[in-house]
Amino acid sequence: MTTANFFAPFRRIVLHFPDNQPYGLRSIDDSLLETPELQQEIIAICNEPLLYNRLFRERLQGQPYSIENARYFLSWARDGWRNHGWFVFLILDPLDHVAAAIDIKSNNADEAEIGYWASSKSRGIMTNAVIALCESARSAGFRRLYAMVAPDNAQSIGVVTRAGFAAAGNAVRDGHTYLRFNKDLTN
Ligand SMILES: CC(C)(COP(=O)(O)OP(=O)(O)OC[C@H]1O[C@@H](n2cnc3c(N)ncnc32)[C@H](O)[C@@H]1OP(=O)(O)O)[C@@H](O)C(=O)NCCC(=O)NCCS
Repeated sequence: MTTANFFAPFRRIVLHFPDNQPYGLRSIDDSLLETPELQQEIIAICNEPLLYNRLFRERLQGQPYSIENARYFLSWARDGWRNHGWFVFLILDPLDHVAAAIDIKSNNADEAEIGYWASSKSRGIMTNAVIALCESARSAGFRRLYAMVAPDNAQSIGVVTRAGFAAAGNAVRDGHTYLRFNKDLTN
């Protein structure tokens, strides 16, 4: 397996749609200060109903997203940058508050899965964030990225479609059927 690699700390600007406000895409590496404010911002966003229902209700068996979940997320993200195995980023708004997160789940250059979430307060950030991540991933050596999206997740299907991913059939994981979307980074 060929591996791709980003170097930490990674930072780039992503423009928010449609007002072009500059948000910051940054690696969650050891240089990120894990303050109580940062933890609380992540907790608040991950408990937003749309996001919680989509990503966490089943996994957390209906329990709220907690401080332990936020600590685990940040520690898992830092581990990824330490061992160059997976790459997790925060997206900060112009006032440096957490707006969203996005990740590449492995360092397999041939194909790696992406995932993301965004606060409804920053609606309009994710398409441009995925486009920016794809550009940076190409430079990091990735040849293809893919996303697994629930068939009823119209917002996420919109994100990958606007970012130029192509539908590539269905895939079953953990008993759930997902639509797979691929983005070829070699051309
Ligand atoms: C899916 C999710 C990340 C989308 O975040 P978002 O910031 O609202 O997404 P977008 O950047 O696409 O912005 C949404 C709106 O801005 C518009 N937009 C954003 N960037 C745009 C661009 N570059 N050009 C044109 N329109 C754009 C979109 O058309 C969309 O408007 P519409 O719904 O009226 O069509 C968010 O809803 C979320 O976190 N959902 C729960 C978790 C989840 O589903 N994660 C994905 C699992 S696969």
